[in-house]
Formats: sequence, structure tokens, C-alpha cells
Amino acid sequence: MKKLSSEQIENLLTQALSARKASYSPYSGFAVGAAILCDDGTVFRGANLENASYPVGICAERVALFKAVSEGHTRDLAALALCGGKGEAVVFCAPCGMCRQALSEFCGPEFPIIIMNENRKGYTETTLGDLLPGAFSKDVL
Ligand code: THU
Repeated sequence: MKKLSSEQIENLLTQALSARKASYSPYSGFAVGAAILCDDGTVFRGANLENASYPVGICAERVALFKAVSEGHTRDLAALALCGGKGEAVVFCAPCGMCRQALSEFCGPEFPIIIMNENRKGYTETTLGDLLPGAFSKDVL
């Protein structure tokens, strides 16, 4: 897939912000939204879902990823956008280590990750390889 246009990026960030409205985060108050774009233009959205048994909760990125993968999108994931913060606020929120590893199962090191900047002031574009160098891979199993 060729490099995303700024319009595609803005659209994916808007989807992440919208997805965040479904965040269930009564324990942390930290609401995260994620949106994954596939090569065919399909977008899968996710929000973080917490649980009274804290470790049962799941991040927004893995909700979006598992929605995509469980609908057959295992080899055509094009980009991930995310935003997060307390309540309506947005802070710079990079994917956690567990989500990076989960993404690495289906996405290569060039996979673009777009993070909304603090106070919604634009975005930062990075890659999975930059965020997770030396990932543990199925190739060694
Ligand atoms: N969270 C995410 O959804 N994604 C991240 O990348 C970091 C953290 C969620 C987990 C938990 O519900 C809340 O944010 C605070 O950690």
C-alpha cells in the first residue's frame, strides 16, 4: 500500500476520536479510541473496555485489531490511528507494549501508526518497527 495521504490520515483520526465515545473506562477514566484501515478502505474501530477484575480489560488498539483479524483481514492492514486521554481531553498516547506485540503478528515494521498529539494539535506518524524494534516473531518458532 502506498503512503497515506493527509486526508486519509485525518479521516482515520476522526474515526478514532469517534470510536473513543464507546470507551468503557470507569476505573481509569482514560478513554482511548483506535481505528485500523485495511487496503480495501474498510475501517475497524475499537475503544478500551475495562472490567471490575482489572486485568480482564483490553486496550482500544487490540479491540480494533481483533475485530479486523476476526473478519479475515490478516494480511492487508494498512495503518492504525489512535487517540486517548482523560474524559474528553487528548494527550499523546502511544500504544502499550502488549498492543505493539499483538500488531506485530499481522503487521510489518513499516506499518504506520498515527497518534493524535496533545490537545488535538495535529498528529505524530511513526511505525511499528520504530515502536517495537526486535519484536519476538513467529519466524523463530
Ligand atoms: N489503554 C489503551 O486502550 N491503549 C493504550 O495504548 C494504553 C492504555 C487503556 C487501557 C486502560 O483501559 C486505560 O487505557 C488506562 O491504562
